[in-house]
Amino acid sequence: MSDSKVYSPGSEFAKNAQIQGMSAYREIQEHAASDPAKFWAELASRELTWFEPFHQPLDWQPPFAKWFVGGKINACYNCVDRHLLAGRADKPALIWEGEPGDERVITYRELHRLVSRFATVLQNLGYKTGDRAVIYMPMVPELPIAMLACARLGIIHSVVFGGFSAEALRARIEDLDASIVITADGGWRRGKEVRLKPAVDTALHDLLGVKHVIVYRRTGSATELKDGRDFWWHDLERHLDDHASVAQAAEHCEAKDLDSEHPLYVLYTSGTTGKPKGILHTTAGYLLQTLMTMKWVFDLRDEDIFWCTADIGWVTGHSYIVYGPLAAGATVVMYEGAPDYPDFGRFWQIVEKRKVSIFYTSPTAIRALIRQGDRWPEAHDLSSLRLLGSVGEPINPAAWEWYHNVIGKQRCPIVDTWWQTETGSIMIAPAPGAVPLKPGSATLPLPGILADIVDSKGEPVGNNREGYLIVRHPWPSMVRNVWGDPKRFVEQYWSRVPGSYFTGDAARRDDDGYFWVLGRVDDVMNVSGHRLSTMEIESALVHHPAVAEAAVVGKPHEITGQAVCAFVTLKQGDWSREKLGDELRQWVGREIGAFARPEEIRFTDGLPKTRSGKIMRRLLREIVTTHAVTGDVTTLEDLTVIAKLSAQHDEE
Ligand code: WTA
Repeated sequence: MSDSKVYSPGSEFAKNAQIQGMSAYREIQEHAASDPAKFWAELASRELTWFEPFHQPLDWQPPFAKWFVGGKINACYNCVDRHLLAGRADKPALIWEGEPGDERVITYRELHRLVSRFATVLQNLGYKTGDRAVIYMPMVPELPIAMLACARLGIIHSVVFGGFSAEALRARIEDLDASIVITADGGWRRGKEVRLKPAVDTALHDLLGVKHVIVYRRTGSATELKDGRDFWWHDLERHLDDHASVAQAAEHCEAKDLDSEHPLYVLYTSGTTGKPKGILHTTAGYLLQTLMTMKWVFDLRDEDIFWCTADIGWVTGHSYIVYGPLAAGATVVMYEGAPDYPDFGRFWQIVEKRKVSIFYTSPTAIRALIRQGDRWPEAHDLSSLRLLGSVGEPINPAAWEWYHNVIGKQRCPIVDTWWQTETGSIMIAPAPGAVPLKPGSATLPLPGILADIVDSKGEPVGNNREGYLIVRHPWPSMVRNVWGDPKRFVEQYWSRVPGSYFTGDAARRDDDGYFWVLGRVDDVMNVSGHRLSTMEIESALVHHPAVAEAAVVGKPHEITGQAVCAFVTLKQGDWSREKLGDELRQWVGREIGAFARPEEIRFTDGLPKTRSGKIMRRLLREIVTTHAVTGDVTTLEDLTVIAKLSAQHDEE
């Protein structure tokens, strides 16, 4: 791997880069590593706006960390209000494109007004610091507005991706014990309406804890409102204007003084069991690291137009559409719909029209666009671009080269950014212009991030050896807990290597110290850069009356990186396998969301198990990857099962 192609930063970009050269960068890194807490504390004092200063950088009672102890701060104030005082009032904060072609440009002044008014609405309904709000919305400006309004009041938000089903939504509302849901009638995707409110109604069916549902009107389709519980967003806002004094006060709804460690949000992500984990992020540390990575990794300038194509329902959208760029006072492009609507030129048309200078997307999106040919990007002027980013999964060198040549015209560095929902912000990525690039490597850990690669005993492995990726020292935007389940937090992340954070990823380091992230070592799959749990899909499948047992594995896929493959055994009965295959795919769509549907369902008479009855997914993974089984199978209960599964594959 160390002999892979290296792109030196000897370009125009490097001349003006904020971090000048590798030796300057190494100096920053060494300074940070010598005392990470002090390093971050200096940045926190300088880069964030505090209502009251903190008195201790870090209180570390492994595995529980408190950053910037004693400080009072507000995330919304840092993302909005302070920019009005810094001369950015008329600067566009959000440039929004609806899928059908509608558009809105919202300046920081206007954002302040919209957020303040919606915060007043929440306050008038009786919501206060510490309450939980679930947000289930399409990609419209009201989504970040709702998040920021919650943050302004200290209401803990939990955004649920609009692609999740009513079942998945309900599980999250219940786990959080949320008292309000903020949603919309629907949104647009590939020219069709994706309805949201009916899913909320199903989810809330017999949940009594939710007192209010606020519905933003996006598509205008017929929507039922339940009396006393459901309200149109615009009606609640209109009530503010009934009294001039209320309307005026609403324009300046005060941002609350909150503790540095006040919970900012909970975001559910897939883990190794059937139940998603509520990843808890808190205020000051999260904000600091999302902000610093905007500067270090994206080399952000005041004049940049920053576009991250993720959905805000995932962590990438939280950190790099909302909190990071807005804390930095950036102009953010936000797009509602699909990359292939009305055609495969949509991304490039938006880049051209909005003069996007920094573009951040996933390898899956890049591979899907490569397949459509170069004529789509070539039809647009992409000269505004100066930096490209990649996130969510390893980027294969072929996709990297295409991105570099066809989109970046060999002018734009590519920042391959490794991080997780749990890390809150980017952890391993190049400082562009300073760090030479190698396609497929996220390069070096950022300043203040002490990443390492260890074996199963926790001992560091040598160069060019595969091992577990861990982080040794706490960092500001780290997950603070699993909502309602501290035991799981400790077991999942802090028990494998005492005192260190266990990422669940395998990695290798080359002779230049570059990190190559190889993929998950647990039962988590990565499909289109979305995290899916094998167990979650299995438990959905076994709910179906025909299914006796199910085992799910990820199989390599040319575009989406991995695809879901389910091995299923059936209960006694007269089932039509052909029909059932389709039905089970739909079933998973209903239980979790369409994005989790298995690409392939294989019916089998038995599943490989250990003597203690555990399904050996490793063997199934081998079958779908290499089409053969080579590993140690001595613990198998029924060896003929494997022979049958492999033979079945050979017949296909
Ligand atoms: C994978 C998304 C290789 C990894 C921000 C991680 C990556 C999981 C990269 C987290 C990358 C993310 N190179 N693998 N640049 N970025 N991953 O929580 O397996 O949705 O553990 O966070 O995605 O996914 P999550």
